[in-house]
Amino acid sequence: MSLLDPSDAVRLELLPRDFVWGVATAAYQIEGAHDRGGRGPSIWDTFSHTPGRSLHGDTADVACEHYDRWEADLDLMAELGYPAHRFSFGWSRLQPGGRGPLNPVAVAFYRTLIVGMHARGITPWVTLYHWDLPQELEDAGGWPARETAVAFAEYAALVVAEFRDLVTDWITMNEPWCSSFLGYARGAHAPGRTDIGAAVAAGHHLNLAHGLALQRIRSLDASLQVGITNLIQEFVPASESEADRAAADRTDAACNGFFLDPVFTSRYSSAVHDVFDEHGLASVIQEGDLELIGAPTDFAGVNHYQRILVSADPDGGYLQAVERAAAPADTSFGWSVLPESLSNVLKRVARECTSLPIYVTESGASYADYVTPDGEVHDPERVAYFGGYLDAVAQAIEEGVDVRGYFAWSFMDNFEWAEGYSKRFGLVWVDFATQQRIPKLSGRWYGSLIRAHAALP
Ligand code: NOJ
Repeated sequence: MSLLDPSDAVRLELLPRDFVWGVATAAYQIEGAHDRGGRGPSIWDTFSHTPGRSLHGDTADVACEHYDRWEADLDLMAELGYPAHRFSFGWSRLQPGGRGPLNPVAVAFYRTLIVGMHARGITPWVTLYHWDLPQELEDAGGWPARETAVAFAEYAALVVAEFRDLVTDWITMNEPWCSSFLGYARGAHAPGRTDIGAAVAAGHHLNLAHGLALQRIRSLDASLQVGITNLIQEFVPASESEADRAAADRTDAACNGFFLDPVFTSRYSSAVHDVFDEHGLASVIQEGDLELIGAPTDFAGVNHYQRILVSADPDGGYLQAVERAAAPADTSFGWSVLPESLSNVLKRVARECTSLPIYVTESGASYADYVTPDGEVHDPERVAYFGGYLDAVAQAIEEGVDVRGYFAWSFMDNFEWAEGYSKRFGLVWVDFATQQRIPKLSGRWYGSLIRAHAALP
């Protein structure tokens, strides 16, 4: 197979004609300009500026300078042939303290940006919350406080009223598991707390924030397409033992079920209650919450990265389990590369959660890319990765799952949260010292795949 012949890798004929091909990014990871245009501090500014929190003390003060370089970035996106861009609005840019009127400078920035996408034939998909909680709201209690969900719904309503003439496809939340459990239980993400009770409250309030925002958006404009993006990993028992099987089920309930169940079934399953009631779940749920959270969306957003092997371990914290990546785990993050884990996850969502259309809102891999003396970035591993994972989407479709689109993570290398600039996921290389962009081999390949699909008879 020639690396640049995508039709060999992916059964493109199985993908629907109007399949949405996209790339994904997030505001804090690419924009920079952290203190310009009236932007307020978010929990990620505070966290990344706290010594010892992010690798090498990296911050996204500058990141990809997309705030200044957006025109060239959109030109490159169009030149490479990517038809859709899933990106996020910076909450603390649009509403610096998390309350009150929208910041007109930020509104103007995002309006110009989106008009620029339309001018280039790129469809915007907007995520309303991709982890950048305004610091003032964290100081007032953060996601463990119910008022934060109310503030989010107000922000969502203001934003959607302002942008609904330009954007049809809206994602309320990105991976609430990370915001709650990495942020408040494991302390690996902002705000860096390690309190399981706070994480459980945060998780419920993130779900509630989605439900409250959905209600506000529906009443503003029933024609908009609204969904939520959840991280769905595949948790597999590390052995045949009963204990490991139970540990894998517990982990799945805690990480996947906690966020899928209420959105798609208006309840937390007994498995979720079994893990979290002792950490306060039952007591944070108020009457009417689950109906709001479970109100119908228009699609399901799935982010998928890994298959994780789970073993029972009495010292393994609230899950009484330890996790490790399934083999082969050869990305630079040590995450598994197993395309069938994506088809399994898609089939599971269709089987257990919803018959709504599914969009893979993120999928991608970090590798130790570098620029060779010819000035190019050769990343055949990423080409193979995307080939495998897109064929896994085709496989799920062949087995009856209604998958409507795929967004590669990420358009360009960017600030990978606690890992700083050390993990590169881009289809486009970014030299963070000079801000030069170089499309990687995979970036060109992805464009040719999209063109090959469009050219099918
Ligand atoms: C999921 C997150 O949404 C995104 O921000 C992150 O960079 C990727 N995973 C890779 O870790």
